[in-house]
Amino acid sequence: MSTSLTELSEIYRKTFNDFPVIRGITDKDGNRYILRKHTDEDAADYYAFYNSPGIREFLPDGLVFKTKTEAMEELRNRVAGFYKREMLYWCIAEEKTNRLIGGCGFIEWSKYHRRLELAYDMMPSYQGRGIITSVLRFVSAFAFLHLHAVRLQATTTKDNHRSIHILKNKLGFKHEGLLQNYKFWKGEYINVNIFSLSLQQFNDYCKKGNYPFLDADWISFAKDLEQRLFNSN
Ligand SMILES: CC(C)(COP(=O)(O)OP(=O)(O)OC[C@H]1O[C@@H](n2cnc3c(N)ncnc32)[C@H](O)[C@@H]1OP(=O)(O)O)[C@@H](O)C(=O)NCCC(=O)NCCS
Repeated sequence: MSTSLTELSEIYRKTFNDFPVIRGITDKDGNRYILRKHTDEDAADYYAFYNSPGIREFLPDGLVFKTKTEAMEELRNRVAGFYKREMLYWCIAEEKTNRLIGGCGFIEWSKYHRRLELAYDMMPSYQGRGIITSVLRFVSAFAFLHLHAVRLQATTTKDNHRSIHILKNKLGFKHEGLLQNYKFWKGEYINVNIFSLSLQQFNDYCKKGNYPFLDADWISFAKDLEQRLFNSN
């Protein structure tokens, strides 16, 4: 815990020469998904996705794009954010087609405090299949194992019941309260729910012999994650 910021930066530099890719995530029907870096080819899908009903309502105004070029700029910023080690946001793609179906990752990465903020979304036509739940378990474990996180956090609007259900009941995040006037949202400053999962809580889950929100036991899950992890450009 006493590692300096310089030492931490060196650890991250060594751990990831390039963007970490996670393969082999499956849904209940055996379809396979990959977590990879965004490319310019994703911009059209991303633009359509972020303009679809069921998504727009849950996005801040800054992520509602007027053009595909604006959407592409946002994707490029996300990739650049990784190389500055300021964020790590994956494109969730269908393995068969390599097409974008969603996104997830850490939009804020405080290296010194070892705190990461989780965010995620899934195209409406892929929702309800449990894909994002699996993916979030992988990236949460990834954050503790590979990004040396001490705390993960996530915020939701008050009425995002689906997201709240996933955080609390599927990932083991704890509700900490309401942050007042925390976000500028559709023209006003709103209160948001804050949830967290600490390294301590995560370790406690693991010590019990299994991660209660997972089907597999934690050790094999962690080993599995190692096998699925590749560096790629
Ligand atoms: C949040 C989001 C990613 C969830 O995607 P999804 O594909 O539906 O997620 P999953 O299939 O993995 O799991 C959905 C779970 O929510 C449950 N659910 C669905 N509607 C619900 C509701 N209105 N209230 C509570 N739970 C609900 C489902 O039953 C399922 O849980 P279960 O497996 O215990 O039955 C997706 O709805 C989305 O992209 N929303 C817009 C963007 C967003 O809100 N991002 C999060 C910002 S905090």
